[in-house]
Amino acid sequence: MPKYRLLTPGPVAVPERVLLAMARTLLHHRAPAFIPVFKEVRANLKKVFQTEQDVLILASTGTGAMEAAVINTLSPGDKAVVVRGGKFGERWTDICQANGIACENVDVEWGRAVEPAAVRAAFARAPEAKALFVQASETSTAVYHPIRELAEVTHEKPGRLIVVDGISGVGVHDLPMDAWGLDVVVSGSQKSWLLPPGLAFIALSKAAQEAVKSGKCSRYYFDLRKELKAQKDDQTAWTAPVSLVVGLQEALRMILDEGLHEVFARHEALARATRAAMTALGLKLVAPDSPSFACTAVYVPEGVDGNKFVKHLRDAYNVTFMGGQGHLEGFDMISAVAAVEMTLADMGQQAKLGEGTRVAMELLRKAGLKRS
Ligand SMILES: Cc1ncc(COP(=O)(O)O)c(C=O)c1O
Repeated sequence: MPKYRLLTPGPVAVPERVLLAMARTLLHHRAPAFIPVFKEVRANLKKVFQTEQDVLILASTGTGAMEAAVINTLSPGDKAVVVRGGKFGERWTDICQANGIACENVDVEWGRAVEPAAVRAAFARAPEAKALFVQASETSTAVYHPIRELAEVTHEKPGRLIVVDGISGVGVHDLPMDAWGLDVVVSGSQKSWLLPPGLAFIALSKAAQEAVKSGKCSRYYFDLRKELKAQKDDQTAWTAPVSLVVGLQEALRMILDEGLHEVFARHEALARATRAAMTALGLKLVAPDSPSFACTAVYVPEGVDGNKFVKHLRDAYNVTFMGGQGHLEGFDMISAVAAVEMTLADMGQQAKLGEGTRVAMELLRKAGLKRS
């Protein structure tokens, strides 16, 4: 097998330790042997979400958890404020509208973070709105939205919920759910969780759990009342995706062994070095002011076809890019920068070969990031 480097914002490369755990003999999801695995995973998920509440595990991709968040906490005819600053912000609006929930959209220029004052103004225009929907890390533009401040604005009126798409944010940015008063936080396994796609997570504050009880949207597979009840007993409502849960057990051990805040710091250092390297190569950042630590988005130089650029990286260097980067180690990131340098040169651009990698290496060494 040639060596492929998956440097997309998800799926990300899965460590061998996790792959080997998933290759073990399959457990039955109702077998006694599965219960300690599920118990450990549930306890460790709470640590990563930084919450005392249960974090539910769903067999779906992240979008399933987004839909579950909408249909369980709101009712048809309700109104919600939605931050639309990228493709995934638009998805919140689409899901709300598909379920009869009206949206007061806060349209944000792509590449910029939302201003908390703009959300306050939207709540003033829609005083009946019951919730705010927002991304922590808007992967499509590589922006980080100011979640702590948005939680404060949301809670200026008691009873309103803040629902955070942390699909590429949890495990990358420090998003302490309980300390910041976040009501719903969702994530997906193919991001910081070091797993293949197929698992989604959803954590609910006490207020959100109350909303789940009274919500009037139609729901069956994603009826979180069933999951809240089942998962308290270390069961899932439906067949659990056992291999992925076993992989998650290993991945969570790796994350917590490294230390949550060390993981955040590593992502921040890698993201900073990536941005500096891209800037040194003359590429313009999409999100210069409030960047996500999960991925970095750059514009290709004028006159270069972005699709051809990404295709060349894949065909010539076995590097799969989506205009951003997921969970990377130092050497992966340096080789990715090198592939960008060579692709720029291959496509006839004035490329300063070695300039991006030099800047990245210097910053990574300064940050003390030596593991690969
Ligand atoms: C911020 C964000 N929201 C939602 C999604 C959609 O998740 P999925 O493709 O797992 O359904 C993604 C996936 O890239 C994402 O990054």
